[in-house]
Amino acid sequence: MSSINTNLSADASSGKSMKFVTLVSMIAALGGLLFGFDTAVVSGAIGFMQDRFDLNEVEVGWAVSSLIIGCVVGAAFSGVLSDRLGRKKVLIAAAALFIIGSIGSAIPDTFSMYIIARMIGGLGIGITSTLCPLYNAEIAPAKYRGRLVALNQFATVTGIFLVYFVNSGIAGYGDDAWDIANAWRWMFGVGVVPGVIFFILLFLVPESPRWLIKQGKSEQALSVLLRIHGEEDAKQEVLDIKASFAEEKGSSLKEIFRPGIRLALIVGVVLAVLQQVTGINAVMYYAPEIFKSMGAGTDSSLVQTILIGLVNFLFTILAIWLIDKVGRKVLLLVGSSVMTICLAVIGIAFHTGHTTGSLVLVFILIYVAAFAVSLGPVVWVILSEIFPNRVRGRATAIASMALWIADYVVSQSFPPMLDSAGPAVTFWIFGAMSLITFLFTMRVVPETKGKSLEEIEASWSK
Ligand code: BGC
Repeated sequence: MSSINTNLSADASSGKSMKFVTLVSMIAALGGLLFGFDTAVVSGAIGFMQDRFDLNEVEVGWAVSSLIIGCVVGAAFSGVLSDRLGRKKVLIAAAALFIIGSIGSAIPDTFSMYIIARMIGGLGIGITSTLCPLYNAEIAPAKYRGRLVALNQFATVTGIFLVYFVNSGIAGYGDDAWDIANAWRWMFGVGVVPGVIFFILLFLVPESPRWLIKQGKSEQALSVLLRIHGEEDAKQEVLDIKASFAEEKGSSLKEIFRPGIRLALIVGVVLAVLQQVTGINAVMYYAPEIFKSMGAGTDSSLVQTILIGLVNFLFTILAIWLIDKVGRKVLLLVGSSVMTICLAVIGIAFHTGHTTGSLVLVFILIYVAAFAVSLGPVVWVILSEIFPNRVRGRATAIASMALWIADYVVSQSFPPMLDSAGPAVTFWIFGAMSLITFLFTMRVVPETKGKSLEEIEASWSK
């Protein structure tokens, strides 16, 4: 199949180029949809699986976390593989892993088969969560890079939001016996549809121009860059990218730990971990349980959970609109301070027993809105743009792996923490982490808005 790149005329006008980049970025962002779908789908399936396989508490934990373990491993390998083989090939392989994972989780008759399938799917998600933003950053013009990368987060929250409806539609289709025997299979199996669409569309996108130059394929890179910028800018960009490779010395592993780059790695890893330890997935994965514990019935807890999805979705759109205008730092600072306040209030509400009524719900919704406009999209954007061309794959992979490990730790420790320390302390800990995010952003995180990847790279050596 010929690439979009070769099908378009060389002299694309700026409107045409923008269409081209947006289309390509939207295809890559579909990886985010798989990410959101797969992390959220299990929430609807777990109850039925518990009955079908007669699962104990530990096994329920496994049913949820097996995907995340796959993600850690997938993220870990995504860097080396994509630096060697290219972004596009590895993304295609990830889509295939996702499809195998979806089919595999839908058909098993034993619980262990299900766990293996989820881990395979997780490998795909770990890879796409790292490479889709990275690919979009490498293809985007500096001026619009924030929003084009944030498209990925938009797709992620769309995936999470869609799953609520898909799951409740499937669960409502049959009676209890049918649900236990079949509903959960369909829930996982539906993932094949976006998986196959993503797999096919990936053949149409061009390889990342920065990776092409790294491989010495400057002509091919130029033809991609011509579609993105005008002729003058494209030629200049090729020179800039080439120069960035010429400046880097030593093996790529040594390069990652070189003083300037080491700081970038610290920023990336710390932000990745903070995105998780500020508690978003405690809310995303356990929302219905939190609401039930506050006295909501099953139906209203489901409605409240859908409200969370809607707020997450709407405020991510706001982030896409703002990120290239006000910059990454402002969003992070405003978002983390609002999150700190909300978590402090939620903690106080639990501490004083004021959890009935809508106070906690309102502050959870504001917290989710603040996350959606800041840490949600911005962390992935920063991870995709702060590392130098030569080590971007590997370095982003390290940060992404840290993010998934933190996700695992938070989602595993949240239920026991609620039991031992209680909800007030648990939310205050998330609040303290949000405060740390604010301080860390203010002191250490650089603003990357509007700079080319090569300019960001050069700023680390200063
Ligand atoms: C995070 C996910 C989270 C999602 C919620 C993403 O940026 O990495 O862990 O579930 O946002 O919207």
